[in-house]
Amino acid sequence: MSTLKSELESALDNGLKEIEIADDAKAVEEIRIKYLGKKGIVSQLLKSVGRLSPEERPEIGKTANLCKTSLAGAVEEKKKSLSSNTVDKSIDISLPGRRRGIGSKHPVNQVIDDAVEIFRRLGFIVADGPDIEDEFHNFDALNTPADHPSRDIQDTFYLPDGRLLRTQTSPVQIRVMESRKPPIRIVAPGRCYRRDTPDATHSMNFHQIEGLYVDKNVSLAELKGTLLTFAHEMFGKDVNVRFRPHFFPFTEPSLEYDFSCVNCNGKGCSVCRQSGWLEISGAGMVDPEVFKHVGCDPEEYTGYAFGMGIERLAMIRYKINDIRLLYENDVRFLRQFNYST
Ligand code: DAH
Repeated sequence: MSTLKSELESALDNGLKEIEIADDAKAVEEIRIKYLGKKGIVSQLLKSVGRLSPEERPEIGKTANLCKTSLAGAVEEKKKSLSSNTVDKSIDISLPGRRRGIGSKHPVNQVIDDAVEIFRRLGFIVADGPDIEDEFHNFDALNTPADHPSRDIQDTFYLPDGRLLRTQTSPVQIRVMESRKPPIRIVAPGRCYRRDTPDATHSMNFHQIEGLYVDKNVSLAELKGTLLTFAHEMFGKDVNVRFRPHFFPFTEPSLEYDFSCVNCNGKGCSVCRQSGWLEISGAGMVDPEVFKHVGCDPEEYTGYAFGMGIERLAMIRYKINDIRLLYENDVRFLRQFNYST
């Protein structure tokens, strides 16, 4: 009997040791089968229980139970700790962490900031106006008659209460002149909205920067000088500016201005459709009718105003051929403008 008891005890000892050093679940299972399986060591040992006397049996039964439950418990424990270890092993804590991409200024904001900075150096300060405007500021005060096509519901987003999403930054001119006396020298960058069908050059939502200079004896020549300086600062010293006669309700005379093509230096290429010039936007001398709407005396003051399409400037600067790229927020596109990495 004492041999059987000590054999069971040493089986328990050996089993526990083997379990301890096993390093995967498969090995642990093999040990379980080896000791506790139907034909395992413990069962084999217990076969000889029949030869024991009835008095000896309870003692051996106790030892056998202890041996079985201890081994089974150790097997369970080991399997549990191995499975939690597996998760840990899959993480290599010596690897460096994953870097988060650093965001950067959107090209539209980059151009706005640079344009504002250039005009600031020329003595302009920044003015602001609401995106939701009334017809007076967006149209009437800008001398745009009620039957003007741009006021059509097909071109302008109207709100149910009769207000509208501003179609241009020009209403900021009115708001500024209503609230202060000349001399006034402001630029107003901001969002504009039009019911355009989006394509490579149109978007329902875009940005403009408006300029306004009102004082005594302001001349068209000064406007040209300002736009030329802007062109030089934004696109380089070789860029030239030209004026073409045009019509805007709020300026007289009105003009459209072009910059010589930055791609071919004015020689003619596919970007400028062989003309050597890139259309930028409109400008002119503030119409006396506009001055009257804001209580400014056209006999005493003159002024020039201009607008610029920010997306247009960005597309020229970064050689972007589709305005929609600026609004799709594709990070592969935007990453190109991240100069910080
Ligand atoms: N508001 C005009 C537009 O959206 C652009 C413009 C033209 C602005 C002439 C001006 C200007 O200030 O004088 O097309």
